Amino acid sequence: MALIMENCGLGAPEQKLYRLVLQSEMARTAQPGQFLHIRVAEAPAPLLRRPLSIAAIDAAGGQITVYYRQKGLGTELLARKRPGETLDALGPLGRGFTIPATGALLLVAGGIGVFPLLTLGEAALRRGLACTLLWGGENSAFFAAAAPIAAAIPCRLATVDGSLGTKGTVMALLSPYLAPAAENEAGLRLAACGPYPMLRALVGPVQARRLPLEVSLEATMACGLGACLGCTVSGRNGAGARVMRRVCADGPVFPAEEVDWA
Ligand SMILES: Cc1cc2nc3c(=O)[nH]c(=O)nc-3n(C[C@H](O)[C@H](O)[C@H](O)COP(=O)(O)OP(=O)(O)OC[C@H]3O[C@@H](n4cnc5c(N)ncnc54)[C@H](O)[C@@H]3O)c2cc1C
Ligand code: FES
Repeated sequence: MALIMENCGLGAPEQKLYRLVLQSEMARTAQPGQFLHIRVAEAPAPLLRRPLSIAAIDAAGGQITVYYRQKGLGTELLARKRPGETLDALGPLGRGFTIPATGALLLVAGGIGVFPLLTLGEAALRRGLACTLLWGGENSAFFAAAAPIAAAIPCRLATVDGSLGTKGTVMALLSPYLAPAAENEAGLRLAACGPYPMLRALVGPVQARRLPLEVSLEATMACGLGACLGCTVSGRNGAGARVMRRVCADGPVFPAEEVDWA
């Protein structure tokens, strides 16, 4: 159980973005890239929990922050909850990101895919690593609501409609960062989260440079604990053979070479 400290809207209401701060023992063990599986109602329906990424961890203060976009019934019910209420949240669940000890980290986010990358970026900056966030979104209205949550991380933005930053998807920002061999030698790593087509477009150029890339995947989940096989995706093992991977337990973060992008 977690105690709700804050559950508030961010930016313009039509963006439907929320920050949820929880007081919980889970903060002591949570790692960047892991997620919470949240029961949004005490009533029997909706039965399934909703997975939300851990976006900030305050281990000393015992607090975890998640951000969410109100999408359907589950997140609508979540948005109605008030500070002081308790929330049935399982976690921290899943396999998170590698936090590099040295080198440089490039975060690549599509829209609300930024959420699991925030705590990774802040962990990398605390270790003194160079860290940059490349972040693509629909338009300036999205970033007016969402950009403040990533204020601690050096950031470059792209919008599909060109209303802010570079025009295009986040891929329009990528090429200068992949070019210099020197950065390769300095140990550049990438971590990404966003829509599947974005991740798929990213993999080719990054792997062509032989740079390590971890991706956080989404899948519709039931148990969230590795038991029901409801969240499986096609992956590759070390020998290149096709294997099934459970996003909730084997991921949600995978080395890009462990995902079957075909
Ligand atoms: C590991 C993981 C981390 C996530 N982190 C975040 C986050 O930090 N912030 C955020 O806003 N969203 C996140 N999502 C997506 C979020 O879980 C869905 O948007 C949410 O479950 C939708 O529930 P709903 O009832 O409002 O919508 P509905 O569309 O009514 O949901 C119906 C059912 O589909 C499932 N579902 C719908 N969309 C998704 C989706 N994209 N991924 C997985 N299951 C889905 C729901 O769990 C539910 O069982 C994450 C998903 C995963 C798998
Ligand atoms: S949701 Fe049950 S195995 Fe992943």
